[in-house]
Amino acid sequence: MDTVYLNGKFVSRDNAWISPDDRGFLFGDSVYEVVRWYGGFFFDMKGHMARLRRSLSETRIIWNEIESFPEVAHELITRNSLDDGCSLVYLQVTRGSAPRTHAFPEPQVPPTVYASARRQSLDTLVWERGISIEPVTDPRWNRCDIKSTALLPNILAYQEAHDHGFAEVCFIRDGFVTEGAHSNIFFVRNETLYTHPATNRILSGITRNNIISLAADNGVALVEEAVSADMISYMHEAFLTNTSGEVVPVIKIGDLVIGDGAPGEITKKMQRLFREKVEAWGEELLARG
Ligand code: PDD
Repeated sequence: MDTVYLNGKFVSRDNAWISPDDRGFLFGDSVYEVVRWYGGFFFDMKGHMARLRRSLSETRIIWNEIESFPEVAHELITRNSLDDGCSLVYLQVTRGSAPRTHAFPEPQVPPTVYASARRQSLDTLVWERGISIEPVTDPRWNRCDIKSTALLPNILAYQEAHDHGFAEVCFIRDGFVTEGAHSNIFFVRNETLYTHPATNRILSGITRNNIISLAADNGVALVEEAVSADMISYMHEAFLTNTSGEVVPVIKIGDLVIGDGAPGEITKKMQRLFREKVEAWGEELLARG
């Protein structure tokens, strides 16, 4: 049985119980974060921590021990013998458990904090082959910038795409591509990268942010500008980014074949630059001890 973290303690999953009155369960009143362990280090923990702090402050959920998360995540890796290879650590922080009412609990109750780790290797086959994604009208709320566990719109859209044989969703709002159900989207036209600006309409991905700085550092032109759905057929390349998949080429959006239907050159370049950054990150951290 694996070990999980619940409210300050490491317990076996069998012994991890939360109240049915938990606001995460009753309302989806909670936020989460996902970090990747690369057999020796977490990639951009600082970026994930900054986003977690922001999600908590935007939702006014108070978790006083937030700074313990990097240590908790590492301890989960060790206790579950996941030190070698790739794993993901998930963290959920809810507003806590209290009788059901929309208002925040009065007096304040402690948040419910749950974290768990699981082995998840990178899908390198998908990096080579690319995936097809389905355009879907973006039905989500206006605060997609908060990493909330309330993901019903993402789940319904993803399942529909999955049922139709697609590997991810391409959300379209007011005629513009926003992002995927659990990834950010980039396009390439004439060697320039395009991605939706970090507004309330997307989650500002940690992988996305790293791609943006890699582009700047390596002389790849990039514009944070939403691509209109009408322009998809004029795009030469497309790719997705997220913590679980890194940089995943998109070769088809609905019926439209992107470029020549194979991962494009700029996409492959960004994949390679990201890989190199992860490796350099690890070497630097390991050298520092
Ligand atoms: N999802 N957009 C959405 C809606 C997401 O859920 C995610 C991440 C991203 C990419 O963010 P990042 O690069 O920080 O992973 C964009 C994670 C992987 C998940 O839900 O498992």
